[in-house]
Amino acid sequence: MVNSSKKGRALDWTLLMRVLSFTKSFRKVFLLTAFLTVFAALISPIRPYLIQYTVDHFVLLGDLNGLAIMTVIMVGSLVLESLVMYAQTYYSGWVGQTVIRDIRSRLFAHLLSFRLGYFDRSPIGTLVTRVINDLETVANIFSEGLLSIAGDLLKLVIVLIWMFAISPTMTLISLIPVPLLILATWMFKNGIRKAFNEVRNEVANLNAFAQEHITGMNLVQAFNRQDVEQEAFERINKRHRKAHIKSVWYYSVFFPVVEVLQAISIALVVWWGAREIMTHPDAGLQPGAIFSFILWIYMLYRPMRQLADRFNTLQMGMVSCERIFDLLDRDESMPNKGTTPLEQVKGHIRFEAVHFEYLPGEPVLRGIDLDIQPGEKIAIVGSTGSGKSTLVQLLSRLYETKVGCIRLDGKDIHAYPLSQLRQAVGMVSQDVFLFSDTLANNIRLYQPDISLDQIQAAAEEVGAQSFIERLPGGLQFQVGERGAALSVGQRQLIAFIRACVFNPAVLVLDEATSSIDSESEALIQQATERITKGRTSIIIAHRLSTVVDADRILVMDRGRIVESGSHRQLLEREGAYKRLFELQFAVES
Ligand SMILES: Nc1ncnc2c1ncn2[C@@H]1O[C@H](COP(=O)(O)OP(=O)(O)O)[C@@H](O)[C@H]1O
Ligand SMILES: [Mg+2]
Repeated sequence: MVNSSKKGRALDWTLLMRVLSFTKSFRKVFLLTAFLTVFAALISPIRPYLIQYTVDHFVLLGDLNGLAIMTVIMVGSLVLESLVMYAQTYYSGWVGQTVIRDIRSRLFAHLLSFRLGYFDRSPIGTLVTRVINDLETVANIFSEGLLSIAGDLLKLVIVLIWMFAISPTMTLISLIPVPLLILATWMFKNGIRKAFNEVRNEVANLNAFAQEHITGMNLVQAFNRQDVEQEAFERINKRHRKAHIKSVWYYSVFFPVVEVLQAISIALVVWWGAREIMTHPDAGLQPGAIFSFILWIYMLYRPMRQLADRFNTLQMGMVSCERIFDLLDRDESMPNKGTTPLEQVKGHIRFEAVHFEYLPGEPVLRGIDLDIQPGEKIAIVGSTGSGKSTLVQLLSRLYETKVGCIRLDGKDIHAYPLSQLRQAVGMVSQDVFLFSDTLANNIRLYQPDISLDQIQAAAEEVGAQSFIERLPGGLQFQVGERGAALSVGQRQLIAFIRACVFNPAVLVLDEATSSIDSESEALIQQATERITKGRTSIIIAHRLSTVVDADRILVMDRGRIVESGSHRQLLEREGAYKRLFELQFAVES
């Protein structure tokens, strides 16, 4: 566990203060909630005293009028108490949910600024757990943890004060089982904490397994893995049940134990009180005290029973907080200090001695020098893993060069604001990601000033309008999660429309035609010609047939540009390009 180094520490105050600082923007509500908690703790011990008073001063004297008046007062105090309780419960929930809403927004905004390299290293499931589940336990700090513990402790003290004021001896007698209660609570607290941790781990396992296998359902079914996967699932499912039942076991033992101890306390008070009243009628103890003590004992035991639980809630919330703040404090953002406005992009691109590695010591690009003139159409070919995609990702700063310099229109790309740079460079990649939303929203990516007409026009330009018309609902077609309802080729057409709609100054097509069938390929070929016209374009292509008419073809091999020239020049050169070309020609014919 992340927290293992800090195990055993009761409470981390710095951390707690930091969580509390999130209540700043609604301090009044928070203070009101705190006040209500204190107020509830103060007023609830009054009712038992009212009963005692009624018994001693009216019931025993046969005063019916007095009894009626006291009944009204007691009902009134009960109503007040329940109103306070209602408000306290409501507002502490409100505070908790508001705090986690704010933290969650901050966290998400923070994640959006992270560089891609961070996501390469962090499992998605963990991040989702942080943003959703961990935050829920933080809300509990407010709704069940902190304030309730403070309220419970205060109530304990106040009840004890009342009890001592009425009869110190009877109070001490009623407290005889308390050491046992403390022992039981302590054992319960430790046991339940372990059980809860187990439950949480098993829930995470179950989530991860179900998520992964539902996502990869086609693989599971295609390879007939259903039985094996079902077995694996049942193992996890069993462990999950076992963990839960263990936690239930602790409760089912602890609660009756507390109940018994409480009954012993009450029995002791009734026994000693009644004896005292009978044997020393002049000592001042009156029958009403027995009634009030019974009720106060209930009031003592309930919070004591809950304290263990609430303390666990608080601690679990703090563990989550720690993980969330770790993430919030992590600075993984892309530096974005450029101030030069990027308007009227000409599209002159220069790579100067660019080196790059994703992982230290494993160079992917080894000295790229490249000059692309405005409006030039460049094609990049080369074997898988030679660094083609990396090269173009550096251009829009999805990853960051440390060695060398990339210039756009003469200036280092760092001189421009990141958003403007990325607006200038449009990208169609092989792996097209779609959100579970309408086709139109996937094309315009929620940019409100892109109209349906513009999308329609772009679709026509790309030659995809007949494909869109065939979809039920056309542009309003729901693409399903990750575009499951569409073929890879169809998704690529969508990415083309997307690029076209955003009208970037520099267009990058990263193996954009590799998954398209020959029929669509002809379409895309036409579309490519149209949308690359007048724009600086970089076309990474798997099929050489799509690059023959480029102004210049670059051949990459293991992070270097090994050849460059037009199709004809490269063929005459009898080098790497010629070999690639012949290889493909042999395969395709
Ligand atoms: N996000 C990443 N993290 C670590 N290594 C990566 C990452 N992306 C690509 N690589 C590695 O960088 C090399 C070049 O990849 P890439 O630029 O995608 O090649 P290409 O597009 O030419 O097939 C490959 O060896 C690949 O394994
Ligand atoms: Mg690639």
